Amino acid sequence: MTRPRLTERILAARVQRAMQGRVRQRRTITRRDGVRYEVDGRWLTNFCGNDYLGLSQHFAVVDALQNTAARDGAGSGASHLVCGHFASHDALERELADWLGAPRALLFGSGYLANLAVMQALLTEDDVCVQDRLNHASLIDAARLAGCKLRRYPHVDPEGALRQLRTVPEGAAMLATDGVFSMDGDVAPLRELSLVARVQQALVYVDDAHGVGVVGPEGRGCVADAGLDASGVVQLATLGKALGGYGAVVLGSDDIIGHLAETARPYLYNTALPPGQAASSLAAVKLARRDHWRREKLQSLIAHFRSTALFRDLPLLPSTTPIQPLMCGDEKRAMAITTALEAQGFWVPAIRPPTVPDGRSRLRITLSSLHTQAEVDLLVDALSWARDAVEMGYSAGTAVA
Ligand SMILES: Cc1ncc(COP(=O)(O)O)c(C=O)c1O
Repeated sequence: MTRPRLTERILAARVQRAMQGRVRQRRTITRRDGVRYEVDGRWLTNFCGNDYLGLSQHFAVVDALQNTAARDGAGSGASHLVCGHFASHDALERELADWLGAPRALLFGSGYLANLAVMQALLTEDDVCVQDRLNHASLIDAARLAGCKLRRYPHVDPEGALRQLRTVPEGAAMLATDGVFSMDGDVAPLRELSLVARVQQALVYVDDAHGVGVVGPEGRGCVADAGLDASGVVQLATLGKALGGYGAVVLGSDDIIGHLAETARPYLYNTALPPGQAASSLAAVKLARRDHWRREKLQSLIAHFRSTALFRDLPLLPSTTPIQPLMCGDEKRAMAITTALEAQGFWVPAIRPPTVPDGRSRLRITLSSLHTQAEVDLLVDALSWARDAVEMGYSAGTAVA
């Protein structure tokens, strides 16, 4: 018997990634001050994070984390159903359900885990899950874990979703979509999708990781923006993006959330969020609800960025959200633009396959209410300089004017 050796396979895969220019490396942050990050000894202006409302370092958010950790400990010590469920978890679940207009909310350790939990608990191998082709990887992995049939429809195409649902007329059905698409920044056509789902008796599941806090009335996300009844759909919101913390919440009817709480394996067999993390997210939700100016400022920065970048012929995807992708074509060009940008003090990593399709590498530029208009202007200057420099054969190390 000759089994393939895992070590050889790993080495071959790494060599292949290197040949394709797809090796990925982490950068270590040594200090942070809002959108300014010290990385490898240099301060860079960050245009790639998801702290859209600038809440992550807000004193009230950090204060709640510290105070609750001092009282209840750094960790929860157990899963929710054993002895890890604290009053701060209860308070946060109630606040999130109230904000997003859903009957009930359930906290999870992360959005990735929450997606696994929803599909694993709700779907079986007899069922079907239809998904937008550009859905987040965790939704695809979730359908695989559930063992259900997975059918993908063309991006933001309700008719495509209907066709796919019709191909599997038996078994229960779920229609799952990102609210705001994480790599393209556009918004799912939720009204049309929910009509399709109604006709096909499918449950709508909206992963609104990038919408809650930013999109819709009072930042209540894509479901509220589309005017859908939050008790008739299941939604995911993450605590690690616009809310500046870590973790996630699933919202829906009493029956569905109750079922998840009692049967979802990624809920049952996972340590609960640290209580301090829940307390700091509660502070962040209160700020997100109260401070309309953060969303207003963000919207005005988005409009300013788009008009100045498009004036310079920078190829942006159409997006009204803080995710503003700049298309670069192949990954080598994307990497060269990233490097040229960093030489000018901006941090925007290239997003390459397999995260995005071949030939659609991009800079995923993100805006935060912490940015100033002057920083946005400097970014646009740097982007158009980097684009021109790469056209003319710029490589890392070239002197920058
Ligand atoms: C659309 C979407 N869903 C889910 C997740 C996973 O959330 P988390 O980072 O909390 O695991 C992400 C994270 O990037 C995301 O973009």
